[in-house]
Amino acid sequence: MTWLITGGAGYIGAHVVRAMLAAGEQAVVFDDLSTGVAERVPAGVPFVEGTVLDRDALDKAIAEHGVTGVVHLAAKKQVGESVDLPLHYYHQNIEGLRVLLAASAAGGVRSFVFSSSAAVYGMPDVDLVTEETPCLPMSPYGETKLAGEWLVRAAGRAHGLATASLRYFNVAGAATPELADTGVFNVVPMVFEKLTEGASPRIFGDDYPTPDGTCVRDYIHVADLADAHVAAARKLAAAPGSDLTVNIGRGEGVSVRELVDLIGEITGYDTAPEVTPRRPGDPARVVASADRIAAELGWTARHDVRDMITSAWAGWVRRHPEAARD
Ligand SMILES: NC(=O)c1ccc[n+]([C@@H]2O[C@H](COP(=O)([O-])OP(=O)(O)OC[C@H]3O[C@@H](n4cnc5c(N)ncnc54)[C@H](O)[C@@H]3O)[C@@H](O)[C@H]2O)c1
Repeated sequence: MTWLITGGAGYIGAHVVRAMLAAGEQAVVFDDLSTGVAERVPAGVPFVEGTVLDRDALDKAIAEHGVTGVVHLAAKKQVGESVDLPLHYYHQNIEGLRVLLAASAAGGVRSFVFSSSAAVYGMPDVDLVTEETPCLPMSPYGETKLAGEWLVRAAGRAHGLATASLRYFNVAGAATPELADTGVFNVVPMVFEKLTEGASPRIFGDDYPTPDGTCVRDYIHVADLADAHVAAARKLAAAPGSDLTVNIGRGEGVSVRELVDLIGEITGYDTAPEVTPRRPGDPARVVASADRIAAELGWTARHDVRDMITSAWAGWVRRHPEAARD
């Protein structure tokens, strides 16, 4: 099959493109390069520079390349920014999705995979978050992901597309150093940045009801996440008209303090943290139940948190050689 991979020049998209190619699928990257990097698109993969808000560009790309499936990763993803710019987030993430679904339905696309997020759950008060846990997003970003899932499912039913919404938990690591995340919005690169500046990593609150008082999250290696896309793509191709919503996590909680200690061990830095007050809106614990994805797609994560930090650090040092320690 030929897959249009929107956001394929981004951090996760670049990994998805490579995983699809490795699985023998054809890929076409569609990306406006607002946060993406053209050099991430592998040689030989067609690249269309454009926004998913541009229906003509989408129609042309789908027809010219004989696209039969879409993996839609293109989106704005900063939670804090979405609070300040909700109109922008709804325009990019919802209107962009609507236009893409319309072009997909008109162009004969059969399968549609959507990047959703654990942000749809908000502040879940459960030990393990299942796909049945109520969705109460806490930010416009999370709202666009939840409303996006509704739109994907409804359009899929109405227009005969098999659909999957993949709820990613905390993504980290890199398959190769040059594919590492260049943004500093997630906890691992945020800690790396502090260490490189000669500052202490910051922990927001150590008085949560968790074993060591710091927030607990579920981290997933981006290479495992990319493989989950291949599994979802295959499932949709084999089950026309189906729809699927799954968590993508490891089902294991890691506290921020454990993460920071491990970063110290791997990087050789003293990571004694500065503890500051809680940030509003941070849930104590968000850990996925990974049962449904194992049952539905036969997928389980292969990489642990050590692999994530080691590979992310290799990517960081590649861009910040001054950070390396012997
Ligand atoms: N990184 C995470 O921890 C995480 C967690 C949950 C969900 N997600 C979701 O995964 C997807 C990919 O995230 P990422 O971390 O790779 O981010 P990223 O910013 O690296 O990638 C997004 C890509 O989409 C492109 N893009 C943005 N708006 C576009 C538009 N209107 N038209 C065309 N291209 C556009 C950007 O240029 C970029 O290449 C997003 O949908 C994000 O919400 C990410």
